[in-house]
Amino acid sequence: MKAAVCYEKNQPVRVETVELDAPRRHEVLVRLAASGVCHTDLSVITGLMPMKLPGVLGHEGAGIVEAVGEGVWQLAPGDKVALSWVTPCGSCFYCRIGKANLCEVGEKINAHHRMPDGSTRLHQGDVDLSVFSALGTMAEMAVVPVNAAVKLPEDAPLDKAALLGCAVMTGVGAVFNTAQVTPGSRVAVFGAGGVGLNVIQGAAIAGAERIIAVDTNPRKLDFASSFGATHRVDASREDPVQVLKELSDGRGVDYAFEAIGRKESIEKAWASVRRGGTCVVIGIGSYRESVSLNVFALPIQEKRLLGSWYGGANPRLLALYRAGKLKLDELVTRTYALEEVNQAFADMTEGVNARGLIRFP
Ligand SMILES: NC(=O)c1ccc[n+]([C@@H]2O[C@H](COP(=O)([O-])OP(=O)(O)OC[C@H]3O[C@@H](n4cnc5c(N)ncnc54)[C@H](O)[C@@H]3O)[C@@H](O)[C@H]2O)c1
Ligand SMILES: [Zn+2]
Ligand SMILES: [Zn+2]
Repeated sequence: MKAAVCYEKNQPVRVETVELDAPRRHEVLVRLAASGVCHTDLSVITGLMPMKLPGVLGHEGAGIVEAVGEGVWQLAPGDKVALSWVTPCGSCFYCRIGKANLCEVGEKINAHHRMPDGSTRLHQGDVDLSVFSALGTMAEMAVVPVNAAVKLPEDAPLDKAALLGCAVMTGVGAVFNTAQVTPGSRVAVFGAGGVGLNVIQGAAIAGAERIIAVDTNPRKLDFASSFGATHRVDASREDPVQVLKELSDGRGVDYAFEAIGRKESIEKAWASVRRGGTCVVIGIGSYRESVSLNVFALPIQEKRLLGSWYGGANPRLLALYRAGKLKLDELVTRTYALEEVNQAFADMTEGVNARGLIRFP
C-alpha cells in the first residue's frame, strides 16, 4: 500500500509503497477515507516535532475497519471510525481521573511514534518505519490500537469525521474543556489556522460576546470572520495587545488562545488577558524556547496560564455538526490526492486553506 514517508528533515515527503503487518492483539486495520493536514505534521518535516525518521505522517483521519486483531470486541469489519491521536488505555492514573487526553500510554506512543510495546506495523524492506501517533493517516491503510479508533454512526460522513480527530477536537475542546469559556466573554484567538478557526467557532457556540481573531494573513482573517469572529487584527500591521485592550474597555480580554506555537505570540496572548483572565496555549513551539513571566505581576494579576492538549475530552462533536452548529464543510477549502501531499504542506505554509484534506479513492 501507499504511504507518505518523511525520510529527511526539510525535504519533500515521498509517497511510496510500504508493507503493513496484520493487526495484532487489541489492534484494528483501518482503510482510510480521509486525512487532514495539520501543522504538527509539518512540524515533523521542519524538525520542530521530534520523530525518528523515516516515518509515516498523519494523525487526523477516519475510515472503515477492514479487520480486527485478537481480543477486539469493540469493533468489527465494516464499522466506521474516527482516529484519535491520543490512545487512552482506560486504566492509568490519568484515564481514571477523567483526563484521557493525558493518558500515560498515549503519552508513550506520542513520544516514540510506535505501538505501546515499541514495535511498528509499518516497514519498508528491512527498515522499520515510525508511525505518527501510531496512526499514520497519510496512508491508504493503518493498523492502530483499538482504543485509538472511535466508532462512528453508520451514516457518519467520513471526510468530515476525519477533521474531528485533531483540529476540531483540539480547538473546540480548548474552549469547552480547558478554558470553559462563559457566555458573554471577550475572547482573542491568536492564529486562525485549522486549529484556531475551531477555537473561534467553539467560542461562538459558547456564547462569547466578542471573538477577536489575530493573524498575519488577511486570507485567514477572512476565514475567521466566516467562522464567527466579530473582530479581526492583522498582526503584521497593528500591535495586537494594544488593539485587544481597546476592544475590551482597556482591561484586556477574558480569554486569549494561542494557536500558532510561537514564543512571541504566547507572550502577546498573555499580555492581552485582563487581571483574573485566562491564557490558553495550544500551539506547539520549539522545545528549545521558554516564555518568561514577571514574578511580581503573577500573584497580583491573578491570571491563569493553561496548556491545552488535544482539547481535553470529547464534547459530542458530530452531534453539534448535525445540529448545524459546528462548521465542518466550510473547514475543508481544498482536497488533495495522497500524491499531492507536498502541495498540501506548501499550501499550509502559504496559508491558502482553512484546512487541507487528503482524500483516498
Ligand atoms: N495542543 C494540541 O493539542 C495541538 C493539536 C494540534 C495542533 N497543535 C498546534 O497548533 C498550532 C496550529 O496548528 P494549525 O494546524 O492550525 O496550523 P496552521 O498553519 O493551519 O495555522 C497557523 C496560523 O497561524 C498564523 N500565524 C503564523 N505566524 C503568525 C504570527 N506571527 N502572528 C499571528 N498569526 C500567525 C498563520 O497565518 C496561520 O493562520 C501548531 O503549532 C500545531 O502544532 C496543537
Ligand atoms: Zn494535529
Ligand atoms: Zn490511560
